[in-house]
Amino acid sequence: MPVPESFAPVMTDDRPATPSALVAAGYVAVGAVDDVPMLEGRRTTVRGRRIAVFRLPAGFAAIDADCPHAGGPLHDGLVADDCVTCPLHGWRIDLTDGTVVGEGARVGVHDVVERDGRIYVRPGAGDGIAGACAGHGDGTGACGPHADRPGARGPSLDGAAT
Ligand code: FES
Repeated sequence: MPVPESFAPVMTDDRPATPSALVAAGYVAVGAVDDVPMLEGRRTTVRGRRIAVFRLPAGFAAIDADCPHAGGPLHDGLVADDCVTCPLHGWRIDLTDGTVVGEGARVGVHDVVERDGRIYVRPGAGDGIAGACAGHGDGTGACGPHADRPGARGPSLDGAAT
C-alpha cells in the first residue's frame, strides 16, 4: 500500500521553534520528556485519537496506539531497533514509518517534537487508514470495542500535559 502523502516523517526537528508556534501549527502538549522513559512507550489521546509516544535514542516517535492485528496496546510493547513489538501476538511495527514488518499492514504515524522539555504531538491527517483494528476497524483507526480492554489502560500520559 502506498504511503499517503500526509504521513509525516518522525524524529525530525524542522518544526516550529517555540511552544506557542507549535500550538498554532496544530500540535498539542501531551506531557514532559521525562514522562516517557528511554525505549518505552506511553499512550495519550489527542483530538480523540489514541496515540502511542515512544522515546528512542534519536528522539521521539508517535504512532497509533492500537495494533492493526487485533487492537493490542502498542504503547505497552517492547522497543528495540526502532521497532515496537505488540505485546499480544508479536507483530513488529517500525516506529520510523509505521509499517508492520513482514505483514503488509501499517499504522498511522504522527508528528511529534520536543520543545523546552515538553512533548508535542500533532495527529497525522491521513493516519489510521490501514491501521484499523482487524476485528472492529471501520477504516478510521477508531476501535470502540477495544477502547476499554485492559491493555488500553497501560502506561499513559493522560493528565500529564498540565
Ligand atoms: S494484537 Fe498486535 S499482534 Fe495481535
